Amino acid sequence: MRTVDLIAKKRNGHEHTKEEIDFLIAGFTKGIIPDYQLSAWAMAVYFQGMNAEETAYLTMAMVHSGDSIQPDAIPGMNVDKHSTGGVGDTTTLVLGPLVAAAGVSVAKMSGRGLGHTGGTIDKLEAISGFQVEMSQAQFYQQIKEIGIAVIGQSGEMTPADKKLYALRDVTATVESIPLIAASIMSKKIASGAKAIVLDVKTGKGAFMKTLADAIELARAMVEIGTLTGRHTVAIISDMDQPLGEAVGNANEVAEAVRTLKGQGPADLTQLCLELGANMVLLGGQATDIQTAKEILRTCIADGSALAKLQQLVEAQGGDPAFIQDLEKLPQPKQIIPIHSHADGYIAEIQAEEIGLTAMLLGAGRETKDAKIDHSVGVNVYAKVGNRVKQGEILAELLVNASDTERLDEAKNRVNRAFRIQSEHVPQSKLIYAIVDANGVRYFNEA
Ligand code: URA
Ligand code: CA
Repeated sequence: MRTVDLIAKKRNGHEHTKEEIDFLIAGFTKGIIPDYQLSAWAMAVYFQGMNAEETAYLTMAMVHSGDSIQPDAIPGMNVDKHSTGGVGDTTTLVLGPLVAAAGVSVAKMSGRGLGHTGGTIDKLEAISGFQVEMSQAQFYQQIKEIGIAVIGQSGEMTPADKKLYALRDVTATVESIPLIAASIMSKKIASGAKAIVLDVKTGKGAFMKTLADAIELARAMVEIGTLTGRHTVAIISDMDQPLGEAVGNANEVAEAVRTLKGQGPADLTQLCLELGANMVLLGGQATDIQTAKEILRTCIADGSALAKLQQLVEAQGGDPAFIQDLEKLPQPKQIIPIHSHADGYIAEIQAEEIGLTAMLLGAGRETKDAKIDHSVGVNVYAKVGNRVKQGEILAELLVNASDTERLDEAKNRVNRAFRIQSEHVPQSKLIYAIVDANGVRYFNEA
């Protein structure tokens, strides 16, 4: 097989065999196929696309490029959840303990990565003493004992995806649905998922700006799941404004605790119930979505979801005192309110600007080795469609830095993120559709 022939084949719109895709990915991972050839191939895929079988072959070739966990090594029906990114998402912090309390095993393995805020393991490290390093044997043992464990990625998972993503990033080939779908699914499958619930975000703050693109990406991932034997369901949800109130690390942990007590923001709670109910269904703990939601509501009302968080924290060396007293989480030196400059209705909250502000204040990593300040971030209290009065608090900056230039930029960014108008604005929709092996179902409620 010659790489140049495979590039020409895709350029001319033909389909690859499994052997051809394995050849390309194995050769590229080992450094036998040079970057320029794989770049040309990625561009051919960008223009010609790939069918579901080719996309599934690519996914599994990337899984096999490095270390992976066999699904059967994990006790119970391990249902993984993935969000395609967004600002201040917080759902994983809520869903882990919530669905574990409902009897679904949660084996969460995540990297740190770059972003507006830390990843799930960074957020958990806002809890004093919390450890994310443990052996695989300890990881499985803890899942067997309490049904949930969260660890940092060990070994080298999906090196082909890392290498290909870096190449796509500099060759204008990121925005290809089959390449994105294979990239996301390869990481879920390598970390041992038996079934997968995806939260595909759409809107200005999301990777997929339009509903049509989000649905297309969701379909591609569901098809990969079907072809590789992992039951997969995708919820399409809004990222036109930040989810919940907190964007940061310690403040998101506090928000997760409030949500597990039944006192969380309405949008975060609704999305967690929808995603969680699908996890409970795939995990075999209920046979219909309404029963699954009832189970989760009971876990919140009877305190078992919160008790599961306490068990997780204690099992991983953390001090659970914050669960009773949220002030025990890292606190910023200063809280700066952002006031509405006018009477009117919130027409827009640019999630991206809020996320960048949180990063500017130190909540996320701009470079791989940057340190996260767990105490800082942004809290957003207003939602699109809310009526506000001049002077009302829309948001708060949680601040440690004394750098006034940075602070001024942060204030300006958050101010700019809000657009207020005098005409009435309807509330935005939270959940647009659900995509599974049977197709797309659109949601009608707001
Ligand atoms: N996120 C991923 O993990 N991979 C992509 O290709 C795009 C977004
Ligand atoms: Ca949030």
